[in-house]
Amino acid sequence: MQDLTGRTAFVTGAASGIGLGIATALSQAGVKVMLCDIEEEALATAVEKLKLTNAAVDGVRADVSLKAELQAAADATVARYGKVHILVNNAGVAGGRGYGHWTDAGWDWVLGVRAPRRMAFLTSLSDR
Ligand SMILES: NC(=O)c1ccc[n+]([C@@H]2O[C@H](COP(=O)([O-])OP(=O)(O)OC[C@H]3O[C@@H](n4cnc5c(N)ncnc54)[C@H](O)[C@@H]3O)[C@@H](O)[C@H]2O)c1
Repeated sequence: MQDLTGRTAFVTGAASGIGLGIATALSQAGVKVMLCDIEEEALATAVEKLKLTNAAVDGVRADVSLKAELQAAADATVARYGKVHILVNNAGVAGGRGYGHWTDAGWDWVLGVRAPRRMAFLTSLSDR
């Protein structure tokens, strides 16, 4: 596998589940990781636990469906670590309702978190 030591990663939805697993694996590979999540408490706990393993990690709270918050998180990441090499666009939500029971608000929420403009924005982060 490619040596990732010293690289920087930005991982969304990193406070739990798959995102936390990816953040953990990257940090174990010597990558500096900025964990991003909407859940402040879970994020703080995840960062605290990873720091106990001497991982070079930090956390930034943001709702990735809101461009201004994502912009602020990106700015904080660049200020903290400089260039970002790895972007993990992991954050996502499920509607939690069965087929035929979706509301417009439910669709807006799910699609807002997964919005293509967010992916484009995240891609631009690695160009800075
Ligand atoms: N687990 C599965 O079987 C599965 C299957 C297919 C796809 N996925 C996708 O993989 C990704 C991770 O899945 P998971 O099971 O680890 O989910 P999870 O619910 O365990 O974790 C998702 C994380 O994203 C965060 N998050 C949610 N909305 C956010 C927002 N607006 N801004 C920032 N952070 C936000 C949550 O707080 C949480 O920490 C998701 O995109 C999910 O849709 C998962």
